[in-house]
Amino acid sequence: MLTVNGRTADASPGFTLFDHATALGIRVPTSCQKTGKCKECVVEVTDGIELLTPPTASEAHLKPPFRLSCQCSLAAESGIVRCHTMRRGQMRIERHAVNVGGDRPAVELEPSVTRDGDRILLDGVEIARSTAPIHGLAMDLGTTTIVVRLFNLENGGQIADASFENPQRFGGSDVMSRIRYDTEHPGKLLRRTVAGYLTHAIEEFPVDPSTIYEMVVVGNSTMRDLFFRQNVYSIGQTPYRSITELEVASGKRTSTSLIETGRRCLLPIHPKARVYGVPIISGHVGADAAACMLAVDLAHEDRLVAIMDIGTNTELIVGNRHRILAASCPAGPAFEGGAISCGMPALDGAVEDVAIDDDGRFTLGVIGNVAPQGICGSGLVDVLSELRRTGRMNEMGRFEDGLARVVLDRDHDIYLLESDVNELAQAKGANVAGLRTVFSHYGVGFDDIEVFYLAGGFGRHLNVDASRRIGLIPNLADDRIVRIGNAAIEGATTALLSRTKRRELESTVTRVEHCRLETHPDFFDFFVFGCQFAPVGPTPEVVG
Ligand code: FES
Repeated sequence: MLTVNGRTADASPGFTLFDHATALGIRVPTSCQKTGKCKECVVEVTDGIELLTPPTASEAHLKPPFRLSCQCSLAAESGIVRCHTMRRGQMRIERHAVNVGGDRPAVELEPSVTRDGDRILLDGVEIARSTAPIHGLAMDLGTTTIVVRLFNLENGGQIADASFENPQRFGGSDVMSRIRYDTEHPGKLLRRTVAGYLTHAIEEFPVDPSTIYEMVVVGNSTMRDLFFRQNVYSIGQTPYRSITELEVASGKRTSTSLIETGRRCLLPIHPKARVYGVPIISGHVGADAAACMLAVDLAHEDRLVAIMDIGTNTELIVGNRHRILAASCPAGPAFEGGAISCGMPALDGAVEDVAIDDDGRFTLGVIGNVAPQGICGSGLVDVLSELRRTGRMNEMGRFEDGLARVVLDRDHDIYLLESDVNELAQAKGANVAGLRTVFSHYGVGFDDIEVFYLAGGFGRHLNVDASRRIGLIPNLADDRIVRIGNAAIEGATTALLSRTKRRELESTVTRVEHCRLETHPDFFDFFVFGCQFAPVGPTPEVVG
């Protein structure tokens, strides 16, 4: 028996997992006709990996639980194998122009790519001739999830977007493992896999890819630099500096931003298209944090604001136009569904809302209204909060009655283990410790914050009450908490549509102070406190 992405079939001997997935109507990415070369057909095997044929030479780069689906088939006579491809969100086709940044005034359209008759100009220099509309891409290259948006650069309208699980997952679920993987397997394997997935996403967009003349990329320092073929080794070693940061320090370059062509990035966009990597701030405080600042227009903000972009590396920014402090907090992948038994990214099939009814039963909301395959970050926050609200879990994350697991959906085998709660407690502890450290370093308390922006892939759907109840965010009044969803992609969009804003960002990042959490004397104490599932008090200890 074989279950792929929740769909089940009897396994036929001699047929690969790839063939079975195709027969089940699941499209597996490939660019090599199943010959083991492209490495795109990777699947994560969650059950029964020992029942499969042994790995082939094409799979030497993979460790369990990952296999290339075109290279393995069921070897055992009986048993159940469960696996899933890298998951996707539904592509959305937009019909209206968007107002970048929600309620704030629209950014004035001022892209780097312009037209003069049939001449297509990049910064005023001709790169192509065409009468077709001109397009650009904004991409948030997250450790767990990748989001790409397609824009018409002549009217600023968003045409479509796509999201999918970062296929680099086979190299580990956090940035440190990816750095280790890239060091042990030189050969740009991680980058090539992303390029393959991106190529499929771009080719599915409803425009001719060769009319895409610019792409703006944001991501944490490691993800961004892997994409731009930079050596990431130094980001993984103290003092955690990226190669671009070291080169700025030695006078070899003036900015940590990166520029490549579409051709060199192995993408099907115009070969002379510019691929612009937004500058990183410092260390692990990357281009995603920089993009968040742009999304909320921090460079012009008078009020004291905080931005918390929750992810595998949580970005924390506190400040206003006078002073900005930023930190990156290695919270791990738990709130993005990694390292959790039934965890998954916020893509189709993920449980994102959870409520416990009066009779003790769970009511689940699932992205895409399909059968649940797992639980994403916002769903995990809801479960924890509901378990606390109903007294089924204590502050220390222990289930009542000595249970080891809580079942949310028996039919689809969706559950939460006490060991999962432990992982979430540690991720939450790191986030809270990061917040307390940054605030105390800035010399302010949580009460001084006028706006607390809650960002991140699941920031838009995160239940604020639930987040406060379990102490994921400070206990601030509703009117001070603003959920802004994926601020990093909003910032990438702004940088794509406005040259002025891009220049402004280049300048803002140079004056951001980097708060190094790992060397802060109070971080560990804050962490221990933050692991408890209890509301966070209004004021952290201010240490100067
Ligand atoms: S399809 Fe290319 S490696 Fe499997």
